[in-house]
Amino acid sequence: MTDDEKNFDGTDDGAGGARFRVGLGVSGGIAAYKACEVLRGLQRAGCAVRVAMTVHATKLVAPLTFRALSGAHVVVDDYAADNPDPIAHITFAQTVDLLVVAPATADIIAKFAHGVADDFLSTTYLACDAPVLVAPAMNTTMWEHPATRRNLAQLRADGVHIVEPDAGEMACGTIGPGRLSAPERIVAAALDILNSRGESASVSKPGAGDLTAEDSGARDLAGERVLLTAGATREEIDPVRFISNRSSGRMGFALAEAARARGAAVTVVAGATTAPRPAGVRFVEALSAEEMRDAVSKEIERATVFIAAAAVADYKPTARAAQKIKKSDARMTIELEPTPDILASVADARRDGLLVVGFAAESENFIEHARDKLRRKKLDAIVANDITRDGAGFDSESNAVTIITADRDAPRELPLMPKREAAERILDEIVRLRRARGGRGAKA
Ligand code: CTP
Repeated sequence: MTDDEKNFDGTDDGAGGARFRVGLGVSGGIAAYKACEVLRGLQRAGCAVRVAMTVHATKLVAPLTFRALSGAHVVVDDYAADNPDPIAHITFAQTVDLLVVAPATADIIAKFAHGVADDFLSTTYLACDAPVLVAPAMNTTMWEHPATRRNLAQLRADGVHIVEPDAGEMACGTIGPGRLSAPERIVAAALDILNSRGESASVSKPGAGDLTAEDSGARDLAGERVLLTAGATREEIDPVRFISNRSSGRMGFALAEAARARGAAVTVVAGATTAPRPAGVRFVEALSAEEMRDAVSKEIERATVFIAAAAVADYKPTARAAQKIKKSDARMTIELEPTPDILASVADARRDGLLVVGFAAESENFIEHARDKLRRKKLDAIVANDITRDGAGFDSESNAVTIITADRDAPRELPLMPKREAAERILDEIVRLRRARGGRGAKA
């Protein structure tokens, strides 16, 4: 074991076999507890994580929690008697492929912006030549203060990646921007950065002899512009009621995230969704089938791949009541009419080179029904799933899909797996179709 493979306490940190090493800096905001979820998300994605905390962060979450989760010594103070490494800030900073700071308080952002190095985390930042990702979290007034704006602008100018905070209710009761972004988004942004530096940056820091991401095949969608629909549409009955379905957007978002990580420029036309949004992706909101159709027709000209992952309502109320419908004792009927089929119209009007992929959520004879949709809608591929199967389909973390392509007779049946993994396999098929077909059809 080399020194690089050891923790600061000299034990094996479990980085052997990990794809990347990530340093996780935790500063003293109420959201410090959410750093545990960031840590777990990074580990699930194959990263070995070591944690550095500011003194104030330790008042909110005990270092022991992070030690237990990371399996490694948590550094707070270089000068602490129990710190076995006399130059921990250098060792820590220079053995990571990425430094993630979540939550990043106004104070730590100010220190980073001005090069103040008066504690372990700020010294680590200065000593680190790996990319840095900062996820700010603070009260709205602090977030909007000109000093914070200036400091963030400085960090951006210094090449630091920022995951913008969400707007919402804060611990202090105010409502506005400043709440730490969802841990999933922070993890997705971290993986984006790591993947864009190449799979080969794994464990060791990238050096002259390392392969690029292209060489490793990880960026095989570079140059593609992927347009995706995701989530559920809502068809309004009156100002407060609508017809919708259980789609969370998770499968579409997993595809968006995976395509982005493989080098594609991704636009998501999203209906109603409950899954956390992926980072690094352009979003267009479109709630009804018609709004989604309009948004897709605006975007499609630039796309080279279209994936229809949204659960689009097949019918909508013939008329939307202008006022809330009042209750009465009489029976009530809502007349429905078909919505436009977005996928079929994209495939119908396609230019050479545009790859069109649909989904088929079926509850019986799913292969036959999906094959029929593939032919009827003139698709290049269809992703079929049996929604009656446990752990698969709508609003689930995993999916068991079968990919049927127009150029091959045999369907590709995949076992139950996390949606992100299923997304990778679907994209593999798109890459194969592109190579078989050659050329891209969109305008630059
Ligand atoms: N789709 C679409 N626009 C619609 C309906 C569906 O773009 N108005 C897309 C979905 O995003 C999905 C595919 O078409 O990729 C399959 O949709 P589905 O509703 O399952 O197929 P239908 O042809 O509507 O058949 P059925 O509902 O009878 O199964």
